[in-house]
Amino acid sequence: MNAETWSQAWRHAAREFWSTEEPSSHFTTSSGPLVAERIAEIVREVDARLGHPADFTVVDIGCGDGGLLADVRERSGDLATRARWVGVDVRPDRRSGIESVVSEAPAPLAIAPIRGVVMAHEWLDEIPCDVVERDHDGVNRLVLVDRWGIQTLGPSLEDDDACTEFGVDAAEARAWLERWWPLREPGDRAELGTTRDRAWQWMSRLVDDGAILATDYGHVRIERELRHRHGTLAAYRGGRLVKPLPDGSANLTAHVALDSCADAVPGTVLSAQRDQVVAPPLPEEPSATEVERHFEALRLRDPGRLGGVGWLRWDARR
Ligand SMILES: C[S@@+](CC[C@H](N)C(=O)[O-])C[C@H]1O[C@@H](n2cnc3c(N)ncnc32)[C@H](O)[C@@H]1O
Repeated sequence: MNAETWSQAWRHAAREFWSTEEPSSHFTTSSGPLVAERIAEIVREVDARLGHPADFTVVDIGCGDGGLLADVRERSGDLATRARWVGVDVRPDRRSGIESVVSEAPAPLAIAPIRGVVMAHEWLDEIPCDVVERDHDGVNRLVLVDRWGIQTLGPSLEDDDACTEFGVDAAEARAWLERWWPLREPGDRAELGTTRDRAWQWMSRLVDDGAILATDYGHVRIERELRHRHGTLAAYRGGRLVKPLPDGSANLTAHVALDSCADAVPGTVLSAQRDQVVAPPLPEEPSATEVERHFEALRLRDPGRLGGVGWLRWDARR
């Protein structure tokens, strides 16, 4: 099989992987009661701002088994029955009792535009993106990959025609890299964030009035320059980190350039999970549930791990 760009190979691999696999078999996301509570709080706040409209809708893109959305619904007071709750994923959700829409997003959604909240929890990092590497002559080149994971350096990003043959807009890629992820040394690699920027813009167009929210592993420019010089492309299978092969055997992921997404939809507010999830203080003689919630909050707020997960929020005010 011929080598493709990473975004092409990743798209094929993701279709193969998600046609048979469930997220819970491969990793635990940071969804849980405290995250559901915080999202429910945001949902209720947006509902109040809109004056409790009769057509309030909550949509979860990349909803998996619908568990998180069902947890949010359970914590949303009268909205649990008053609102419309819709989960969008490439596979139907057969378990949570939530309205299920099968779609490979971003794509037109018949239910949009809505009044309410569109959320995506650990979905943006699933959006395939291209990989670029700086070669020994200081030229940034597209990385090509075959199904067995053998990577070669493809056309230079200065060669617009050659990049177009691979479906890549070289001018857009150059501009994105220069602004968000400049490559300096031979061997430096970046994942182009343009597809995730467009996914966040797409989410903003789904909402007529209300808010969009995305939570994901990500980075901002200073972190990319200091910590991610070789990119963040990774793969998981059965809870373990494995070699990123685009053969459909593992879940491919790369951190999201959160600052670039935020810039793509002006008015977006970027915060860290540690600032969103509150650690309830422990009483003198805590119950087992209180202890459990306390430690769950510490886990979600840990600055070295889940506390750094990014929360992107944009409020539509039309
Ligand atoms: C990491 S899981 C997250 C599931 C859930 N949101 C959670 O936090 O537990 C990613 C989910 O996104 C779905 N997904 C991946 N690519 C998608 C796409 N292009 N459109 C819709 N769903 C997609 C997968 O099927 C999977 O259920």
